Amino acid sequence: MTDLSTIDRTQTIPPWAWFVAPPLFADMHAWHDAVDEIRQATPILSAEPPGYSPMWILTRHADVFAVSRDHQTWHNTTRSVLGPDIDYANMMASGMPLPKTLVHLDGDDHRDHRAVTNSWFKPKIVANRQPRIDELADEFIGRMRDLGGHCDFASDIAQPFTLRVIMDIYGVPESDEALMLELTQGIFGAADPEYLGDAADPNARVLESVMRFIQYFNDMTVDRRACPMDDIASVIANGKVNGKLMDDEHRLWYYIIIATAGHDTTSFALAGAMDALVRHPDEFAKLRADPGLVNNAADEVFRWTSPVRHFMRYAQHDTELAGVAIPEGGRVLLSYPAANRDPEVFDQPEEFRVDRPDADRILTFGVGAHFCLGIQFAKREIRTMLDRLARQLDRVELAGDVEFAQSHFVSGVKHLPIDYSFA
Ligand code: HEM
Repeated sequence: MTDLSTIDRTQTIPPWAWFVAPPLFADMHAWHDAVDEIRQATPILSAEPPGYSPMWILTRHADVFAVSRDHQTWHNTTRSVLGPDIDYANMMASGMPLPKTLVHLDGDDHRDHRAVTNSWFKPKIVANRQPRIDELADEFIGRMRDLGGHCDFASDIAQPFTLRVIMDIYGVPESDEALMLELTQGIFGAADPEYLGDAADPNARVLESVMRFIQYFNDMTVDRRACPMDDIASVIANGKVNGKLMDDEHRLWYYIIIATAGHDTTSFALAGAMDALVRHPDEFAKLRADPGLVNNAADEVFRWTSPVRHFMRYAQHDTELAGVAIPEGGRVLLSYPAANRDPEVFDQPEEFRVDRPDADRILTFGVGAHFCLGIQFAKREIRTMLDRLARQLDRVELAGDVEFAQSHFVSGVKHLPIDYSFA
């Protein structure tokens, strides 16, 4: 049987493994080459990985778009993130609470819970946070200068900058950031050996991280109910659904989704942006010559990096997708990085171009009712940093091996050694 945790490219790789096996996300260049062939040959790929219920894997932009928008036919359910069947069975057997974050809810339940924080994430409201994002970006450019021309851009800059922004709006003090980082990596990156810590296996690491999050946010609820502040933690702590305070379970998962979804994703996008610019010096030169391209360049970075690798959807009745019959209960994996390289939508998708005219058609943030709540923050963070890098960096080169995190859910560049100088 194929061991998904150790699979590598010396073995024959079944097509579905590219979407399921964490180690294969460690080389995204090889990943895209393989997935381009899969999209061309079998864009709706029937897959039965050992230990997983059957699924269809969607790699075309049109199919990912159509399924994401059809909320009558397709639901997220409590299994909206792919995992082995045994993990789910164990979770049920242990009585562990099933996840109830926004991405695990459907219909009215989802709409009502999303409404608790929705206004906080509206473009005009997020725009008020721009001065603080500017301030933090300047601080981290200062840190780059202090590092004297050499750094690991992913762990020295991208990770702490994006963490600081989200924790700032959260209301989490800087002294607790290391803990938040550790717990986020324990949930999203547990399959990566670097993030496993002392845990016996990735599942134990996820469970341990959830339990520690619960403890942390329980204390936060008490605090923000007693003394509400201008932060997202206060909105969640006091959030009401149908006129009543959110129940404990929904509230805790709410904290967890915003703390986790708002950080690693953006950090991988920013590290991936630098990786792309270093590998494409002509594109960096274009951006330096015309920093007005920064919004478009940010969209191109989101297309190029696509840090969220998938979400699942479940058919609520018999249906059909581009001629393929899918029965009630059947499930599909939406591959965002694959959809973002679909040549039906993007001209020469394998090229990174900061002035790409079709960059706004990305599916990096999904589409439909679950469309990323935090997109305005993500865009502002990447634009703000790109703008400073374009205006201030004079020279930048790769100074060692680039490493990608190994996860089939949220991943991207985790180590990026660079040499640079400022103008
Ligand atoms: C580059 C950065 C980011 C990427 C690539 C990303 C991607 C995504 C994707 C693909 C979804 C699911 C969309 C769907 O099912 O249609 C999502 C949902 C979500 N994102 Fe993001 N996201 C990013 C940043 C953020 C930030 C900064 C926050 C919070 C501050 C955030 C909070 C959320 C939440 C709460 C949801 C669930 C929405 C729902 O189910 O209604 N995300 N994101």
